[in-house]
Amino acid sequence: MSLKRNIQDLRKRKIEAQKGGGDVAIEKQVAMGKLTARERILYILDENSFHEYDLFVEHLARDFDMDKKVLHGDGVITGTGTIYGLPVCIYAQDFTVAGGSLGLMHARKITKIMDHALKMRVPLIGINDSGGARIQEGVNSLAGYGEIFFRNTIASGVIPQISVILGPCAGGAVYSPALTDFVFVVENISKMFITGPNVIKTVLGEEISMEELGGAKVHCEISGNAHFYARSEQDCFEQIKKLIDYIPRNNTEKAQKKEPREPLKKYNIDNIVPSNPRYPYDIKDIIKSITDGSEFFEIMEMYAPNIVIGFGRLDGKTCGFVANQPKVLAGVLDCDSSDKAARFIRYCDSFNIPIITLEDMPGYLPGVDQEHMGVIRHGAKILYAYSEATVPKITVIIRKAYGGGYIAMNSRHLRADFVFAWPTAEIAVMGPEGAANIVFRKEIMEAEDPEAMRKQKIEEYKEKFANPFVAAAKGYVDQVIEPSETRSMLLHALDVSENKSVQMPRKKHGIPPF
Ligand code: HXC
Repeated sequence: MSLKRNIQDLRKRKIEAQKGGGDVAIEKQVAMGKLTARERILYILDENSFHEYDLFVEHLARDFDMDKKVLHGDGVITGTGTIYGLPVCIYAQDFTVAGGSLGLMHARKITKIMDHALKMRVPLIGINDSGGARIQEGVNSLAGYGEIFFRNTIASGVIPQISVILGPCAGGAVYSPALTDFVFVVENISKMFITGPNVIKTVLGEEISMEELGGAKVHCEISGNAHFYARSEQDCFEQIKKLIDYIPRNNTEKAQKKEPREPLKKYNIDNIVPSNPRYPYDIKDIIKSITDGSEFFEIMEMYAPNIVIGFGRLDGKTCGFVANQPKVLAGVLDCDSSDKAARFIRYCDSFNIPIITLEDMPGYLPGVDQEHMGVIRHGAKILYAYSEATVPKITVIIRKAYGGGYIAMNSRHLRADFVFAWPTAEIAVMGPEGAANIVFRKEIMEAEDPEAMRKQKIEEYKEKFANPFVAAAKGYVDQVIEPSETRSMLLHALDVSENKSVQMPRKKHGIPPF
């Protein structure tokens, strides 16, 4: 064959191999409002940057008439490309080919690109649209998933791993995402479950729709399995690009520094916190009054909204924000908000992202439900995550810092590098009302006018303890600052912390309260 004919043959083979599951299956995919696997990859990556590998891989299954079936690319597209000019590794399961189910060669394509991502120290993006382990390939499919889970775990904390759920994902197709750093879901399209409605009906006799069982909202609001919610696939891909722009490529680098910008004037830090300490406000307004361009990229917005986490930039540098939200449950710490914050703190620590903590909360949530759900264990996760984090850690106490919450929210005692407090800060074992009722119970009961006595004692307590100066006098707070000084104090603290270096005792790993 001449070179010309060789090239023609290659081109024909490529076109054939890129057909996916064929026209009928693709029409079905489109009718469901879904893009194809290839369209998804091309949308996420920079134009003309996608380089595909293993296009000609074929499945090896022979049982159940599988030898008669052609599964193009074995149901998954893998390759490399760039996002904003920086390299990433990517794979997208193709639901049009045997439901994107995972057989041996399908798994090998994924593990090959995972190994590549880890070796090259670049982010990995996995687009999951799969019915899970390919039933016809039996234990080979399970082995394939095991190999993926192992790699997800080994790569954790070394390279960013991003999962996108873009179809009905079952079994192994959701456990791999669960091991990755960030999970993206799309309204009406994403479904995640270990066992689908059919199995539930067979085993439990219960009817439930895929949406109710594991739709996008379920995982963003209730289970906490997903971190980003999008209204369309395109919206989801834009969010992924934004995330990639905030984070470093691997754990040996820092995030790229951007051009510094001032916050927008409309977020005036002096006007956000109400003068009555009982009134709520939106902590995100405070974050936006501090960050470059008032931009804040929130993570897990719909889950445990009593704590807010996400990325913003200060002087062009990416920072992770952990902030109590007084607007929801007074910003209290509970099982879910502790889980949410602790995981994010560990992410920032793994990837050299300084953590800024904004504190205004009345402590841990009391109640039988919380105790029985394990608030001791879950709450301890924040203590653990902050204590072991060695990235720059800066705290600003805005209002309430009571009890265990004061310690947990990156206090000096957990090795915060800088602790600033506004003059409105109240740092105490508990709130003035509760404290006065306990400490002065006898005086209040025996007073001629118990109500007047209670008020007087509350005022006395506030005067004495519910302010930042007692903590400042002990050096637990480094400086009491005016709200308008917050950004400049943070910028300076970040500059000073640029080369922070902490040696922890040598150990294999700790045992966090998982
Ligand atoms: C082989 C599969 C498949 C699978 C789907 N297909 N899942 N083939 N193995 N696991 C095939 C279907 O036979 C069908 O082929 C095509 O994909 C499309 O599937 P449909 O059922 O028509 O699509 P839909 O109605 O949208 O339903 C999607 C679904 C459903 C909810 C994902 O297919 C489903 O419940 N699949 C099984 C899910 C599951 O239990 N997986 C195993 C999990 S155990 P044709 O040829 O008809 O087009 C697992 C082990 C690892 O993953 C666990 C690790 C912890």
